Amino acid sequence: MRIAVFSDLHYSDHPNAGHPRRRGEIVPEILERVVDRLNGEFHPDLVICAGDLVDDPKRSDLLPEVVRHLKRLRAPFLAIPGNHDPLSEEFYCHVPRPPVVLDLDGIRFLPFTDDPERPGWNAARTPEEMDRMIRSASAFPGPSVSIQHVPLYRPGVGTARYHYEYAETILDAMRDSGVRLSISGHDHQGMRPVSDGRVTALAAPALCEEPFPFLLFELDRNGLLSDFRTIEGAAR
Ligand SMILES: [Fe+2]
Ligand SMILES: [Fe+2]
Repeated sequence: MRIAVFSDLHYSDHPNAGHPRRRGEIVPEILERVVDRLNGEFHPDLVICAGDLVDDPKRSDLLPEVVRHLKRLRAPFLAIPGNHDPLSEEFYCHVPRPPVVLDLDGIRFLPFTDDPERPGWNAARTPEEMDRMIRSASAFPGPSVSIQHVPLYRPGVGTARYHYEYAETILDAMRDSGVRLSISGHDHQGMRPVSDGRVTALAAPALCEEPFPFLLFELDRNGLLSDFRTIEGAAR
């Protein structure tokens, strides 16, 4: 199946003085173009939005405009909150809440919407969520995919600047339970797919920064990723 991932929109109603590269104020135009291209050109089977939909967690009033664009997608979409978004309870008052488990074409998708933040813009997975991940993935005959905002990869193999606490332990549990892919955002430069031999991890670059990129790839029923491409989203 073909999957599109974009992340880090940082939608705002004014230019970002502290981070001028983040063009959150033109997100409606960027999304207009990206959604048109996904619908007309790339035809993904699933679109994942990996968090930081808005720039200011207090501005949940801006979420409906993002959702309005996402709802134009002809493919199912799955959006999770990032550290710039309101917490999940508030976030999902405005954004369609994905199912706890989404099975599509022999692949199980597990969105993690409440992984707590850690100092340095890092994250953690609680023991309860670890259990849920292991149980959900182990119970499924095919590969599973973990989706979270902060890059989750085995230390030493990834190039992202942010990480999960106890990432080694989480990656071991992924490997043993059948999680074959870890999809994130958060690191605005993105992270190309890296594999420790069993689990592949990647992070989408920020859609709000030129050239407004998103990711496109194929994922087969063995959890193998192919035809990985970065698309310049707003390019004509
Ligand atoms: Fe971000
Ligand atoms: Fe973030």
